[in-house]
Amino acid sequence: MTCERRTALVTGAASGIGLAIARGLRAAGSRVIGVDLRAGEIAADLGSEAGRTEMAAQAETLSGSRLDAVFACAGILGGGANTLSVNYFGAVATLLLLRPLLEVSPAPRAVVIGSVAGYNKPDEPLIGACLTGDETRARTMAAGRDELNIYSAAKTGLARFCRAQAIRPEWAERGILLNVVAPGLVQTGLNRETFTDPKRRAAVAAMMPCPLRRHAQPEEIASLALYLGSPENSFVTGQVIYADGGQEALQRGAEMI
Ligand code: NAI
Repeated sequence: MTCERRTALVTGAASGIGLAIARGLRAAGSRVIGVDLRAGEIAADLGSEAGRTEMAAQAETLSGSRLDAVFACAGILGGGANTLSVNYFGAVATLLLLRPLLEVSPAPRAVVIGSVAGYNKPDEPLIGACLTGDETRARTMAAGRDELNIYSAAKTGLARFCRAQAIRPEWAERGILLNVVAPGLVQTGLNRETFTDPKRRAAVAAMMPCPLRRHAQPEEIASLALYLGSPENSFVTGQVIYADGGQEALQRGAEMI
């Protein structure tokens, strides 16, 4: 464990789960480099290649070429092909472009916000297109597909990408622990309509029943992400951890383990 002041980069830091993580980090004494569309230390659109490159360049400068933790939280819902570009390709680029800055930390950690959505009926062709890294092809395939399908494919693809990366030598042998936190329904700006429209809320509750019978606040997701992104987490890597009030256990059952 290190007592040195840590520097963390958080994408999607202006709102919701990313904001809760950034606040938690600051409260614990870390330095935070927040990335968001139009706010924070770095304003960049992670849905575009130019924005990702700009984010990485500014991160290198602002961090002095060393990051201790990266939290990839930026995400959207209902953006069609852009959902793939932000939620999958933006998060993947964040991890790959910033990994060299993590390498020099004594306790490097990366945490990605996935989702409980997606494991039910995974859209394998779309997930496969994401995993090949061909963004143009994946975006073309997304045309005409259902929004939830696209969102789920991006998040499932991202979880699979992280599990595969975490055990590769350039992560594992460098001591960079990489995990995914997969939340259920969280009260944030992402799904504002679910909370303001009672009909929609009932439909979501029926589609994704939650044993705890409630949704989460962003701080409840942030606390797990903060642990995984801290030196206190010294042996957990390559995991997708559901913070979903029991939804995944209910739907997939005990035999999943
Ligand atoms: P949010 O809307 O409150 O925060 C998302 C943040 O990402 C915003 O600040 C937004 O400006 C930023 N962002 C969006 N597009 C961006 C882009 N192209 N470049 C840079 N920043 C961008 O939503 P929330 O819920 O905090 O979302 C955080 C993550 O949690 C997302 O990846 C989302 O998919 C995931 N998630 C959310 C759930 C929920 O119920 N709210 C459930 C499961 C996962």
